[in-house]
Amino acid sequence: MPVRSSSQGILADDQRQKREEIIELLRQAYWMEIETVMSYIANSINPDGVRAQEIVESLQRDIQEELNHAQQFAQRIKELYGVVPGSSEFKAQQAYLQPPEQQTDIAHVIRGVIEAETGAIEHYNRVIEATDGIDWVTQDMVIAILKDEEGHRRLFEGYLREYEAEGLA
Ligand SMILES: [Fe+2]
Repeated sequence: MPVRSSSQGILADDQRQKREEIIELLRQAYWMEIETVMSYIANSINPDGVRAQEIVESLQRDIQEELNHAQQFAQRIKELYGVVPGSSEFKAQQAYLQPPEQQTDIAHVIRGVIEAETGAIEHYNRVIEATDGIDWVTQDMVIAILKDEEGHRRLFEGYLREYEAEGLA
């Protein structure tokens, strides 16, 4: 006996086109998270100096969170009948998070993190809009992830304020 497919929601047969659109947005989100993991690993290890310590520890904690985001996006791609892309499809985007010339240039790292989080926030807002009314599960998941990214950005904005106030940025 053939199994019945859902007649409601994003898994319904007639929602194939919308599913593909959402899967493409999720793939972009997945790569953003993977690149952020790479950038945060490098930037949590490269910085030198006493002032770097807070930033380094903060980025170390965020690596696990961003990795978890990547896994959530990958899982949702599969649930929507998509395939998680292989590494050969990866294209780097985070020019602003490359190592600075001087490893004591912590302001460069802080600005790069704010830029990465801003990019994620913009993309996740697009996903939330694209899923509205049709894919509640993806929308709910992305809202929770968006909260994490907004929190990260706010934290690093605070670091930047302090640097600017002390004439270090
Ligand atoms: Fe993330």
